[in-house]
Amino acid sequence: MDFKKVVQARHSVRDFSDKKVSPQTIKNIVQLAQQAPSWVNSQPWKVYVAQGQSLQAIKTKFLENETAGKKADPDFPTLHREDWSEETQANMKQWRHEIVHYFENFDEAHATMTAASDALNYAPTILYLTIPKNSSAWSVFDLGAFAQTLMLAAKDQGLDTIPTYNSVRYPAAVRNALQIPDDETLAVGISLGYAKDTHINGFRSKRVDVDDILKFN
Ligand SMILES: Cc1cc2nc3c(=O)[nH]c(=O)nc-3n(C[C@H](O)[C@H](O)[C@H](O)COP(=O)(O)O)c2cc1C
Repeated sequence: MDFKKVVQARHSVRDFSDKKVSPQTIKNIVQLAQQAPSWVNSQPWKVYVAQGQSLQAIKTKFLENETAGKKADPDFPTLHREDWSEETQANMKQWRHEIVHYFENFDEAHATMTAASDALNYAPTILYLTIPKNSSAWSVFDLGAFAQTLMLAAKDQGLDTIPTYNSVRYPAAVRNALQIPDDETLAVGISLGYAKDTHINGFRSKRVDVDDILKFN
């Protein structure tokens, strides 16, 4: 696919079909993602594939935790909404507003998004990305480049993705199921698969005007 088309076609899919992704396809996508730049070529990333029984084990434990009211405990701490900068808070508020508008009412938006989220977006595969525990912020930067290259490579192969906080909110469950060593930080899960043709997948997040973020001096 043409580069610009790939970039424009990638978007977060929240409802995947159960069509499986072959190990060779996963390998090809991850191999392409390895072309991402990193600090002194440190390549701090690792990818753990959850599918079949391991993914089911994660889902079962997440549901158990959720039902027991267990607090989320992600390896990367989250910030309270009020602690984000004013502009980023405004963008997030606008995004929530657009979702509600897309579903036409708050209750439906909330119910559909929550159901998708609780089911880890029904994805047949989640790629879990880690970096070493004692990493610098630069490795987080590198992992971001790796993740985006991976998602674009997936799109180029006709696959869809969504990176989620939601899939790493109970890291112990993921670590157990995938045998992730304690000296690695679980950063994010990227759901991978084929999008269903459903309403939720028709939603597109907008972007601010380029002149609001691009500064020529
Ligand atoms: C680190 C990260 C975590 C995210 N976590 C979630 C999540 O838990 N649930 C969700 O529905 N979307 C999640 N998203 C997707 C964002 O909402 C989405 O990327 C943003 O709205 C832009 O939309 P697009 O990806 O469709 O272009 C996450 C995105 C990133 C980069």
